[in-house]
Amino acid sequence: MSLLLTNIGELTTHTEEHGTLHDAAVVIEDGRIAWIGHADRAPAADTADDLDGRAVLPGWVDSHTHLVSMGDRAEEFIDRMAGRPYEAGGIMRTVEATRAATDDDLRARARWLREEAYRGGTTTIEAKTGYGLDVETEQRLARISAEHAEVITYLGAHVVPAGVDRRAYIDLVTGPMLATVAPYATYIDVFCEQGAFDVEESREILEAGRAAGLGVKLHGNQLGESGGVQLAVEMGATSVDHCNHLSPKDVDALAGAETVATLLPACDLSTREPFPPARELVDAGATIAIASNCNPGSSFTTSMGFCVATAVLQQRLTFEEALWAATVGGATALGLDGSAGRISEGGRADLQALDAPSAKHLAYRPGVPLTHKVWSRGNPV
Ligand code: NIG
Repeated sequence: MSLLLTNIGELTTHTEEHGTLHDAAVVIEDGRIAWIGHADRAPAADTADDLDGRAVLPGWVDSHTHLVSMGDRAEEFIDRMAGRPYEAGGIMRTVEATRAATDDDLRARARWLREEAYRGGTTTIEAKTGYGLDVETEQRLARISAEHAEVITYLGAHVVPAGVDRRAYIDLVTGPMLATVAPYATYIDVFCEQGAFDVEESREILEAGRAAGLGVKLHGNQLGESGGVQLAVEMGATSVDHCNHLSPKDVDALAGAETVATLLPACDLSTREPFPPARELVDAGATIAIASNCNPGSSFTTSMGFCVATAVLQQRLTFEEALWAATVGGATALGLDGSAGRISEGGRADLQALDAPSAKHLAYRPGVPLTHKVWSRGNPV
């Protein structure tokens, strides 16, 4: 079956060939984009959807979430808004709730958030473990994440659980836990921060993951200049996420590096951390991604539209830069550039249509639910 999406007011493709088109059409066949061009030249298809001048753009690629996790930390959030600082130790509250949940509870939670993300235009999502912190629960999180997310990241090294010997925990993370979770995962990640893991511990953990065949990611420089960014670039990590506290040396390291700097604007607002220097990073030549960091502690949102609007309104990114970072940037941060983040002939039909004539309305009309329709692999969701 083929589907013609026609009368598209503005079509953002993120391809060299088509760029941004007006009065456009797209044909979808077997979950892939079969044709892109001007509406008056569109070929016939089995069915058609007249989009009445709406904007169409690639589905969001949310490259940083903790989708499978339980609990509600609204009180802690409210305390933070009243001035209490964010601390890495709060992670254990989500760990307790997650460990106590059944598989069905975790599934229901993941399904709820995944559907919410779809409704907001997210068609590719990453999910990290990291709220189990024992072999059995980390494995459960990875297994259930694989039912709801396209990319799984192993984050056994989120914090050392309370009451557990530090060295023994690192041996567990790099030994039996890694062996159990690796079959589900594409990446290993570590929270390289005061209160979590230092640079040498992070290096050891990431090297173990790499030896097990996983790509490398890192949570770095969220709460201070942790050395995480330097380590990520040195190790050729696919991404370093957070990047709130960057020295000029960190910005230089990211400029021109393969490592994507992933910005998490909703988390920055919810933890009252200073925003990363997004403008400086882009001007220096770094590749950036924007992601939601959906988790109940530091960023309880799936809304990539909100993150894009925040990056434009508060982080001095142009709208085009923010849109690119939340699609192609996210795909690059997941090693998926070429299969996500663009609308290209032969590529996966992951698209969103907005109740707006231009994608720019995502920042121009912040907070307004603009999603009209979303297609994942060509199917409406
Ligand atoms: O990405 N930074 C570390 N981990 C998570 C969430 C932490 C939490 O539960 O407080 C994050 O923000």
